[in-house]
Amino acid sequence: MARVTRGIGFGIDIGGSGIKGAPVDLAAGAFNAERLRIPTPSPSTPEAVAEVVGQIVSSFGRASGTRPIGVTFPAVIQHGVARTAANVDKAWVDTDVDALMTAKLGRAVHVINDADAAGLAEARYGAAKGVKGVVFLATLGTGIGSALIVDGQLVPNTELGHLEIDGKDAESRAADSVRDAEDLTWEQWAKRLQKYFSTVENLFWPDLIVVGGGVSKKSAKFLPLLKLRAPIVPAGLLNDGGIVGAAVAAAELGS
Ligand code: BGC
Repeated sequence: MARVTRGIGFGIDIGGSGIKGAPVDLAAGAFNAERLRIPTPSPSTPEAVAEVVGQIVSSFGRASGTRPIGVTFPAVIQHGVARTAANVDKAWVDTDVDALMTAKLGRAVHVINDADAAGLAEARYGAAKGVKGVVFLATLGTGIGSALIVDGQLVPNTELGHLEIDGKDAESRAADSVRDAEDLTWEQWAKRLQKYFSTVENLFWPDLIVVGGGVSKKSAKFLPLLKLRAPIVPAGLLNDGGIVGAAVAAAELGS
């Protein structure tokens, strides 16, 4: 697959509470216009979500460019098909997301796991750019998403947010939504993150750990509390990596 390093792409990040999209400058790895956010419909069925994705793209008119649209989704994605639905409507399991959205938009759409999109963006434009060896990225949000990058290449669908630690699904203890729901202090949450990241570190021995998700903009509150072998840094694109990574992945897959 040839690398696309210039022009305008378009990315959409589908999350549990909001669906956000923006045109992306593929040379800079940055938004080319202010992003638009529409609340995720409830219930968040494939049809209802595809409708919102269509609204976002058409609201940008010609500024959405002509390349295939990239869409993130918080689930295992194999060849355009969603295989799981941990924090989203179960109707998504086995939905051919590429086919559904391509039909709805009348334009090629490619879907990618949300954390994989963020990982790709970090490898191309952000904190993992030019890093040799193994990079582990975790997105801390409603769940925990993971991306594994080896010498700049993404290994998709690693799903390391669902590692079982002390008999529990890791994201049910250490996701940012859990910090919120249980009203944890930064110190209390950092203890859970310490356990999570040291478990991952003992399994994969990454050269660098990158933290994304909405809470990455508050990384000064918790990253200094963690003691790991590898350096651990906030995502260079903070929470914009999903949109940027989806846009570049779709541009490279083509129609
Ligand atoms: C899902 C992943 C997703 C992550 C972050 C997890 O519950 O299984 O596919 O990347 O949440 O949204």
